[in-house]
Amino acid sequence: MIVKKAEHVITAVKPNQYPATGYPEIAFVGRSNVGKSSIINTLANRKNLARVGSTPGKTRQINFFNINDVFFLVDLPGYGFANVSKDLKASWENIIETYLYSRKENALKLIVLLVDIRHSPSKDDITMHQWLRGFGLNTLIIATKADKISRSQITPRLNDIKKVLQLGNDEKVIPFSAEKRIGIEAVWSEIDINLER
Ligand code: GTP
Ligand code: MG
Repeated sequence: MIVKKAEHVITAVKPNQYPATGYPEIAFVGRSNVGKSSIINTLANRKNLARVGSTPGKTRQINFFNINDVFFLVDLPGYGFANVSKDLKASWENIIETYLYSRKENALKLIVLLVDIRHSPSKDDITMHQWLRGFGLNTLIIATKADKISRSQITPRLNDIKKVLQLGNDEKVIPFSAEKRIGIEAVWSEIDINLER
């Protein structure tokens, strides 16, 4: 995919704030700090399209990015961030859940679940994954921050993630690094396939 145009369209919380353009959407979900905003910047080939933060909880609403006037990349708030009140946690979960419910039938072509390649998926990751499955959504799993481990560790880490998430043989986990630009083509190829579905 050649990105000619990448533009922040809107920051939304409620469905009536989502863009009504009717473009297909590819959404990114995962724990706080896992690299959702970074992967969007890397795919779009822009430095500061989505705001990246060193402290978890940077993205607290839904951000829609228009790519080439063809589809949206959607940056969802992170879950599993410890230092927030119960109310705030519930509000983020509600934002994600509401988005998935309102977009699953039509706009949402693919949901990308990001997990940190260094760690086994957390309880929250497992819950989210099972939930996405239950929804019948096309789900792609990406293992982020692949630059943080040695090359020889990549395959064993991917196997652990597959095992913990109980993936079938046909389900893959793509290693990715925004820092070292690893996995960009593999991810684009999955996005392209799902946009054509
Ligand atoms: P929230 O918005 O808080 O949910 O986080 P997020 O998932 O959007 O994560 P974000 O992209 O803001 O990245 C969090 C931190 O991880 C930042 O300090 C990034 O620079 C760093 N980071 C993201 N991707 C990579 C990567 O591929 N490699 C390394 N080494 N660091 C990364
Ligand atoms: Mg973010």
